[in-house]
Amino acid sequence: MHHLLEKLNWRYATKQFDPNKQVGDQDLEIMQRSVRLAATSYGLQPFRVVMVNDPEVREQLKSAAYGQSQITDASHLAVFCAKTDMSPEYVDDYMARLATARNLPISAVEGFGNTIKGQVDSMDAATITAWNKRQTYIALGHWLIAAAELHIDCCPMEGFDAEKFDEILGLKEQGLTATVVAPIGYRSEEDAMAKAAKVRLPLEKLFINK
Ligand SMILES: Cc1cc2nc3c(=O)[nH]c(=O)nc-3n(C[C@H](O)[C@H](O)[C@H](O)COP(=O)(O)O)c2cc1C
Repeated sequence: MHHLLEKLNWRYATKQFDPNKQVGDQDLEIMQRSVRLAATSYGLQPFRVVMVNDPEVREQLKSAAYGQSQITDASHLAVFCAKTDMSPEYVDDYMARLATARNLPISAVEGFGNTIKGQVDSMDAATITAWNKRQTYIALGHWLIAAAELHIDCCPMEGFDAEKFDEILGLKEQGLTATVVAPIGYRSEEDAMAKAAKVRLPLEKLFINK
């Protein structure tokens, strides 16, 4: 089996983490750099990932996640948050970084910036947040695959009260909303789900040839 498929078969949505095992700094940095490289619409990166290190805060978040133990037992807790807006200033900042990175005069990227601002102008607030959330899930995909590659366990989680997460983490003030949570660490030997067979549609159902 191809190396990548072996890793993806090995991974599973971890239900029980070993609370005594920690992900090393070097591996964590590789995972974070993988997320940084995620593709996003226009390259806007309209998400942030909050790493929750405070055990007391993690206890509060567990209550807001229906008591799911991964929130407190995993080595690291990443809360993927979507931006709730897309301001002209944010786009301008991106244009400035784009011009610098590619050694272009700002005038060369002005048209691109105006295209983005024009599209954003035609969207209402809910549509902008939904757009940003879609980008956030692409980043989650990178996080999941990077974890598998590094033999790190992960559990993508939507089973939480986003409003409570936003409140506990003070996200609203930062123009963010909790979208999907992804603790990482190492599976507990007691997690029976580690050996559960994968349930997936066959390729011919998943891919429709026209
Ligand atoms: C967006 C999303 C939300 C999920 N939410 C939860 C969750 O709250 N709790 C949980 O234990 N698993 C959660 N899962 C895990 C899925 O149930 C799991 O990925 C799916 O059943 C396939 O199994 P596998 O990932 O172990 O192969 C979630 C997965 C995704 C992608």
